[in-house]
Amino acid sequence: MMSYNKKADYIWMNGEFMPWEDAWVHSMSHGLHYGSGVFEGERAYEGKIFKSIEHSERLHRSAQMLDMNIDYSPEALHDIKMELLAKNGLTDAYIRPVAWRGVETLSVASHQCSVNIAIAAWEWGSYFSAVNIFESGLKLIWADWVRPAPTMAPVAAKASGLYIIGSLSKNKAEQQGYHDALMLDYRGYVAECSGANFFMVQNGEIHTPIADCFLDGITRRSVIEIARNKNIPVIERHILPDEINAADEIFITGTAVEICPVGQIGEQHFQVGAITKIIADEYAAWVRR
Ligand SMILES: Cc1ncc(COP(=O)(O)O)c(C=O)c1O
Repeated sequence: MMSYNKKADYIWMNGEFMPWEDAWVHSMSHGLHYGSGVFEGERAYEGKIFKSIEHSERLHRSAQMLDMNIDYSPEALHDIKMELLAKNGLTDAYIRPVAWRGVETLSVASHQCSVNIAIAAWEWGSYFSAVNIFESGLKLIWADWVRPAPTMAPVAAKASGLYIIGSLSKNKAEQQGYHDALMLDYRGYVAECSGANFFMVQNGEIHTPIADCFLDGITRRSVIEIARNKNIPVIERHILPDEINAADEIFITGTAVEICPVGQIGEQHFQVGAITKIIADEYAAWVRR
C-alpha cells in the first residue's frame, strides 16, 4: 500500500520548511474533530504551476466561507509553492495546500482557534495510470449520496468536511470494481464525481451541469474556454440522469484526473470520442505552455 508518510523531502508548514516526516498535527485539532479545513489540489508541469494564483485565490475564498482567514496572500503562497518545488527537486508534481483550525479550543465555535497552513508537493503521474484510459474510459457507478443544497453546507468551498460524501461514494465505487462515483444533487440533477466535474457531448455540443451546488473546477472553466476557442458550443444547464443515455461522449475534469473519458456509468456504455480527445490534447498542451 502506498504511504503518504514520505513522498518528498520537505513540507512547508506555518512559515517554515521542515522535513516531510516532521509535519505532524495534534490529535486535538479542531479541523480533525469538526472538519474545519480547506485545501487545494494543484499541478506543476515542467516547473510551472498551472493557474497557481487562481488556486490560491480559491483557497482564500474557501477559507472565508468557513470564517477562516489565511495570512499569506495568493502571491506569497505562489512563491512558497515555487520554493517548495525547488527544495524538493520537483518539476512535475501534485501540490496540496491545506489550512485548518488548530488546538486552542474544542468548542464547536471555531473563531477563537488559530488557522494553520501547510503545503506539500510530490511527484505524481497520471491519476488513473493503471488503465489505458483513452482506450476504454473510466467506469463510474451512481453514488448513493447527493450533493447538498447551498443552504445545507458551504457547497462552493473546497472544504475538508464536505468530502465525506465523495469519500463514501468512491469507497463504494472501488469496492464494486468501478473507478469513481457520479453524484446527483439535492434536486436530482447530475452534479459531479468525487473529485472531478462532469461533461457530456451530444451532437457536437458540450453540456455540463451549472455549478450551483458543487465545486466550479478550475479545470472545468479551462475546458469551457478551450471548447469555445475551438468553436465547440458549451451549454451549462441542469442535466437529468436519464439524459445521459443519449450522450455521444462523456468525460470528467479536474486537476488530479485532468481530462478523463468515461466508458461506463452504471449499466450504460459510452465510446471514447473525438471531442474528448481534442479537449484532452489541448489541455495537455496548455498546462505545459
Ligand atoms: C469535488 C470536486 N469537484 C471538482 C473538482 C475539480 O476541480 P479543479 O478542476 O479545480 O481541480 C475537484 C478537484 O479539486 C473536486 O474535489
